Amino acid sequence: EEDDDEKVTNEFNEFLLSLPREKGWRTPYLYKFQGFWCPPKEIQAIMSFQKHFQAKDTDVVLASVPKSGTTWLKALAFAILNRNRFTDKNRHPLLSSNPHDLVPFFEYKVYANSHVPDLSGVPDPRIFAAHVPFGSLQESIKKSNCRIVYICRNPFDNFTSLWFFINNVRSRSLPPLSTEEIFNMYCNGFVGYGPFWDHMLGYWKESLERPDKVLFLKYEDMKEDVTFYIKKLAKFLGCPFSVQEERDGVVEDIAQLCSFENLKDLEVNKSGNSIIYFENKHLFRKGEVGDWMNYFSPSMVEELRNVMEEKLGGSGLEF
Ligand code: A3P
Repeated sequence: EEDDDEKVTNEFNEFLLSLPREKGWRTPYLYKFQGFWCPPKEIQAIMSFQKHFQAKDTDVVLASVPKSGTTWLKALAFAILNRNRFTDKNRHPLLSSNPHDLVPFFEYKVYANSHVPDLSGVPDPRIFAAHVPFGSLQESIKKSNCRIVYICRNPFDNFTSLWFFINNVRSRSLPPLSTEEIFNMYCNGFVGYGPFWDHMLGYWKESLERPDKVLFLKYEDMKEDVTFYIKKLAKFLGCPFSVQEERDGVVEDIAQLCSFENLKDLEVNKSGNSIIYFENKHLFRKGEVGDWMNYFSPSMVEELRNVMEEKLGGSGLEF
């Protein structure tokens, strides 16, 4: 079996070398795979995911560009879908597990290390997450009646969040990246799962064509009125809140349970390590809208505005 493993690794390395590459953020390089930029381990996992995953109509897939509020969306979707299973407020799984343990990424957990997992024991509705662009989702996800929820964030804050994050998790053995360099990489689309505009537009267009299939959410809107979006999410997922539940404050309880302030201070989120490559504490920084204003120079504002105008203009997707 070891020989087989070695063969797979050699074949993969050869394949990798055939791909265009650019300097990476967390890893030395990003490779252009199926039209988007991706670190090598993730490419291997995505290939395994595309080969083996079989969606069920009852599945829910949460999708996003990294640093768009994925952790929050995972917590909300898990709490909404499982609200009848976990009724004791003081013993909810979100109090002892990180959202990434409860809703695993295809690329970082389910198919990490090309693992082919046995998913037969996972109770329905299964909830998974993906950073891959819409076009690279496993075919059965697109074809079945399973539902996709996308969370999108203003690129200004997305970049700011990513920049801080990378400063924390970039390997110490790699040379540091200057803010200017990393900002140029972002604006040129050389970023994990990017270009960000292709990623956003892929899911955006699908949500317009198939609104029952893809729900497109924005971080900023959710911060403004989380209870409205919790109800919207529940309805979209086929489990709307009853009048009685609303009267009992179930929606507000979920908002509170999943809030940045609540999750950030939990022991599991201060000390755990739920995703290979980094610690949970880096997933909770500020959780605000508009923090970019503290870091962007006027020329950076202009440059990113221009990129957004050029790439997103006319699509109807606005921030
Ligand atoms: P900031 O760096 O701006 O604080 P992701 O979960 O996709 O990695 O996104 C991370 C961003 O979401 C970080 O943004 C993080 O602080 C914020 N975040 C994490 N949990 C949150 C929550 N429960 N509510 C709102 N924002 C949250």
